[in-house]
Amino acid sequence: MNKLDQDSLTDAFNRRVTYLRLSVTDRCNLHCCYCAPSRPNLVPLDGLMSFEEMFRAVKVGVGLGITKVRLTGGEPLCRRDITSFVAELCRIPQLKDVGLTTNGVLLEQMAAGLRQAGMKRINISLDTLDAEKFERITGRNYWDKVWNGIMAAHELGFAPIKINTVVMKGVNDDEIVDLARLTLKYPFHVRFIEYMPIGTDPRGAQGFFISGNSLRKRLVEVEELIPLDSEENDGPARRFKFAGAPGEIGFISSMSDHFCDRCNRMRLTARGFLRPCLLADDQVDLGTRLRRGDCDETLEKLFCRALSMKKGEHGLNFHGADALKTKMVSIGG
Ligand code: 5AD
Repeated sequence: MNKLDQDSLTDAFNRRVTYLRLSVTDRCNLHCCYCAPSRPNLVPLDGLMSFEEMFRAVKVGVGLGITKVRLTGGEPLCRRDITSFVAELCRIPQLKDVGLTTNGVLLEQMAAGLRQAGMKRINISLDTLDAEKFERITGRNYWDKVWNGIMAAHELGFAPIKINTVVMKGVNDDEIVDLARLTLKYPFHVRFIEYMPIGTDPRGAQGFFISGNSLRKRLVEVEELIPLDSEENDGPARRFKFAGAPGEIGFISSMSDHFCDRCNRMRLTARGFLRPCLLADDQVDLGTRLRRGDCDETLEKLFCRALSMKKGEHGLNFHGADALKTKMVSIGG
């Protein structure tokens, strides 16, 4: 692809990329079965991008029309000095939105600092309301820490707070009603995410899959779901609410009802690889060029090259075709 005239990252399918997800570390303080299924293949610490490099990458992206950045991991709050980095990002005037996706373990102690740094929105993963099950899923007995983190963020006025639940058959699908009912009490957006076979054998993973549609049918049997209009830029969730609820319920159905035609994202991994699609292994090495101190124009071209590799639709499925080699923990979701 040529250097873009309008300084925008618009691809051959007329999708405009305005949203960069930045994985700030591949380290995590949980070991969730669906994210890092076997021993994670960690990058040596000096192989991770520095904050200076990440900041530069974001600035180049902003010059090409990026208006929203979300920090992911691993677990982003495990990266030392992350709060000052957030403050720096929040000072970029063209960035309308700086968000965070966290497992919540360190949130109770860090939420106030993040708020002060200028962050407004937080997504927190929570797959269960049962502390013992939490330990089975994540390998750590930290349910209370996560819940306290969610409450701390709520009390500090983060809004919206989105709760991400990866639903797995036979593991936590029995809890969807209780999780959805959190929206009756709190203004949270509870989002049920379809399990994706990432970094694992898709054929073995199929038994855990349950579609967003069947979850919706189960919820409707218990309580009416009122559909909400999708707002532009509000992401991949199909949104609903219970009557009178302060919160909402969303379904993110990447496998059964993908939203590739609306995709506005690109990802930058902690090692510095630009990935045009979460569910494909294609990537462009931006990190080496950043480290070498190459000029903005070279970096812009790499963004454009990554964009040109963005396929119309992802090819991930449970039959094993196009199995994804990279694990979620190193892409950041
Ligand atoms: N399938 C679906 N969602 C996943 N996440 C991590 N791994 C998977 C997977 N295999 C979710 C996490 C987190 C978000 C960034 O991605 O729950 O909320």
